[in-house]
Amino acid sequence: TNVAIVMGGYSSEYQISLKSGNVVYQHLDQNNYRVFRVHILPEKWVYVNDSNEEFTINKNDFSVEVNGSKITFDVVFNAIHGTPGEDGLLQAYFELLGIPQTSCDYYQAALTFNKRDLLSVLKPYGIKTATSFYLNLGDPIDANQIIEKVGLPCFVKPNKSGSSFGISKVKTFEELLPAIENAYKEDNEIIIESFLDGTEVSVGVINFKGETKVLPMTEIVSENDFFDYEAKYLGKSQEITPARISDETRIKVEKAAKKAYEVLKMKGFSRSEFIIVNGEPHMLEMNTVPGMTAESILPQQAKAAGITLPELFGNAIELALK
Ligand code: DAL
Ligand code: MG
Repeated sequence: TNVAIVMGGYSSEYQISLKSGNVVYQHLDQNNYRVFRVHILPEKWVYVNDSNEEFTINKNDFSVEVNGSKITFDVVFNAIHGTPGEDGLLQAYFELLGIPQTSCDYYQAALTFNKRDLLSVLKPYGIKTATSFYLNLGDPIDANQIIEKVGLPCFVKPNKSGSSFGISKVKTFEELLPAIENAYKEDNEIIIESFLDGTEVSVGVINFKGETKVLPMTEIVSENDFFDYEAKYLGKSQEITPARISDETRIKVEKAAKKAYEVLKMKGFSRSEFIIVNGEPHMLEMNTVPGMTAESILPQQAKAAGITLPELFGNAIELALK
């Protein structure tokens, strides 16, 4: 079985993705699979061998010619965070080519990558969210109206982005406009959310051997103002698995996370973020290509569930091939 691990991407998260892809590369069982690293970058799509030689991918059929012979792939392991790996573009491309891939389908990817749309679809299923305000680039910005609705402090986020790029916690009226400008650097849509004062947990839900499985959840204790880029990747947070919450609360969060996965007809990996306020989970977002770096949460959760990384990644490939 020829497996292409696609990594890189076109967003600010490309370096995180290269790390995730390399972790997958190191842990996929190379006795079972013939594994190729493929970098998908704005300037080039290339297969990169162990000597770091690059071979250009033919985008017509996602094949590559190496020393005169053509290599095609049976399955793609998607390790691209952000566009085009997490927003449906690559999912649609591979579906058109008939090459199975490890993440959800294109519609689910596009929907979940859009925080506003994801949360509004899940709301009727009883999944609670923060109060929010939405802006498109060019919309008039009425700071009074925004603060009246969401209060202070609040969070300003690009609507379609990851790894906390472009996110600010806004504590004063004066900070709002600069925060909005900053978020517009990442996306042409912005979501401004009320601050939820509670316990943050991250919940991995995957399909494991055909069943929806909720992994042990992780409590996030950030040393910074929130779980920002530094907290995520530069050690400025404590990540406690399993989270220190009551069984009653844990069951509520698990139910919400599982429901989200199932009503959306998800496949493959997901990791959803919640803030628990007075025992009630409020959903922030769902990541469908969660980080697999040494610092990332989902691999830690899999280990806590007794699933090794070769098992976790092999399971994803086997399910994609079904
Ligand atoms: N967006 C990052 C990679 C994550 O969800 O882990
Ligand atoms: Mg995210």
